[in-house]
Order: sequence, then C-alpha cells, then structure tokens
Amino acid sequence: MKYLKAILIEKLIDFFEKDYRRINHAISVLFECEQIIKKKKYYDTDLVTACALLHDVGIKESEKILGYNDGKTQEQYGPKIAEKILKKIKFPGHKIIIVKQLDYCQPSLTL
Ligand SMILES: [Fe+2]
Repeated sequence: MKYLKAILIEKLIDFFEKDYRRINHAISVLFECEQIIKKKKYYDTDLVTACALLHDVGIKESEKILGYNDGKTQEQYGPKIAEKILKKIKFPGHKIIIVKQLDYCQPSLTL
C-alpha cells in the first residue's frame, strides 16, 4: 500500500495525541522489525508495518476504562482499535484479519 508507513504514523499520532513515549516506542518497534525482515526471504511489508505500529493501541483504551493495562487488556481492546484505524485507511480486509491476530499473539514483537 503506497505510503502506508507515513499514513499509519500519522494515524498513530492522531490516536496517541501527546503520548510521545508510545508513539516513539511504536516507531522503534517498526524499525527493529524492518531490520529483522531484511534477513527474511518472504514477508509482507504492509503486514509488518501495520502490526509493528499498531501493536500497543489497546493500551490507551485499557487505561481509560480500567485505569491500567497489561498484556491481557491490550488483547481485549487492541484488535478492535487496530481494525478501526486500518479500515479508515482502506487497508485490505483480509490483511486486517491477520493484523488483529498477529498483533496480539506475538510477544516477540513487543520490545
Ligand atoms: Fe510495545
């Protein structure tokens, strides 16, 4: 998807507003993932970008509703938010399903 990284970073900034720590963390995770996939033969850049940048979006909702967050609450709130953001940018539906599954089942993506 053309300009996906820039578009998603813009959406992430809109979402996290002034929470620079979380924005910076998501971009750092994306950078690390990009280093890893350089060594791989088969990968989907758009999926890696979406998963890396959106992997912590459940934190904000969890903290708003519950007053705290952990891995379980991120799993609870994150996929729906990631889906909403990705639908807004017309990310392909079949890839949204994968992002929702991967983002919250891959602890190795969390740095
Ligand atoms: Fe994280």
